[in-house]
Amino acid sequence: MNRILTALQPSGILHIGNLFGAIEPMVGLQSDENENLLFAVDYHAITVPQKPAELRRNILFAAATYLSVGIDPAKTILFQQSRVSEHTELAWVLNCISHMGELERMTQFKDKSQGKDLSVSVGLFAYPILMAADILLYDTNIVPVGADQKQHVELARDLAERFNNRFGETFVVPVPQIRKEGARIMSLDDPEKKMSKSAESEKSYISIMDDEATVMKKIKSAMTDSKSTIEYDEKRKGLANLLTIYSLVTGKHVNQVVSEYEGKGYGDFKVGLAGAVSAYLSPLQEKIKGYLESEDALIKILDEGAQRAQVIASKKMELVRKKIGVQL
Ligand code: TYM
Repeated sequence: MNRILTALQPSGILHIGNLFGAIEPMVGLQSDENENLLFAVDYHAITVPQKPAELRRNILFAAATYLSVGIDPAKTILFQQSRVSEHTELAWVLNCISHMGELERMTQFKDKSQGKDLSVSVGLFAYPILMAADILLYDTNIVPVGADQKQHVELARDLAERFNNRFGETFVVPVPQIRKEGARIMSLDDPEKKMSKSAESEKSYISIMDDEATVMKKIKSAMTDSKSTIEYDEKRKGLANLLTIYSLVTGKHVNQVVSEYEGKGYGDFKVGLAGAVSAYLSPLQEKIKGYLESEDALIKILDEGAQRAQVIASKKMELVRKKIGVQL
């Protein structure tokens, strides 16, 4: 049996990168042979300021989205990170074996703290350690993530090995799983950058909740190039990204999409792509709205998930306490 785990920040907007990089792969990995865990990392979200009422809504929205994409709570333990306090407890222990230098090297921290002075939160700096705790607490074998999280999963591997060397075999060393297509959806207005919800311009990402008109507007203004043919060429980064999105929302191979647009230009292609994206998102949006109408049912699913997760987490934490010598 493999234990497969991933998590996402409930920070309001989920974009199609989150969907293709992490949520969909997790749906595809549900099977009787695996034990899967998926959770909303609300304690990661508060590493940057959050409005409490919004955060609450975002956690429910995240849960509604996972369920709508196809997460089945009978097959995947679905919960909210803060409800299993062992995550923060283990994070503290791991803080004490982590090095300042290895955290300073994390590219996401460098990006997020860029231009900010020393008022950047300690939480933002220590964030990858909490992520390592999320993973190691459950003896996770496989962590499906987008390419941007690879470095963080590698830190979790290093910490597992360091702890095991120092205190004896305790943690499974996890392996990141990054899908070939969809693990790095690029920004629409700058194909050199990854699609990100914290981007300055809303035009850079497609939110899962964007309506048809918004999707059309954003795709029409997506940056491409001055060539006129529709073909897959990695050097034509804007077009390559749009073709990848086209393939992911339709399930068609990129080559098939290319052949459908033979002899046509960007105008037709973008209209076709916007239509395909909306055809993919519309039913999903209806399902999400449906789940959000019954908050109590969502909370019940998350509560049950937290209880199941805690059974695993509390056993692991007991072992950790014994290993480090605080268990009398
Ligand atoms: P977060 O919330 O930033 O992103 C959630 C997931 O979406 C993926 N992703 C993308 N995939 C493809 N293209 C993109 N443009 C794109 N942008 C984001 C991310 O790689 C991620 O898989 N620290 C993590 C959350 C976390 C976690 C964990 C993940 C906390 N604990 C334990 C795995 C295991 C984060 O902030 O992801």
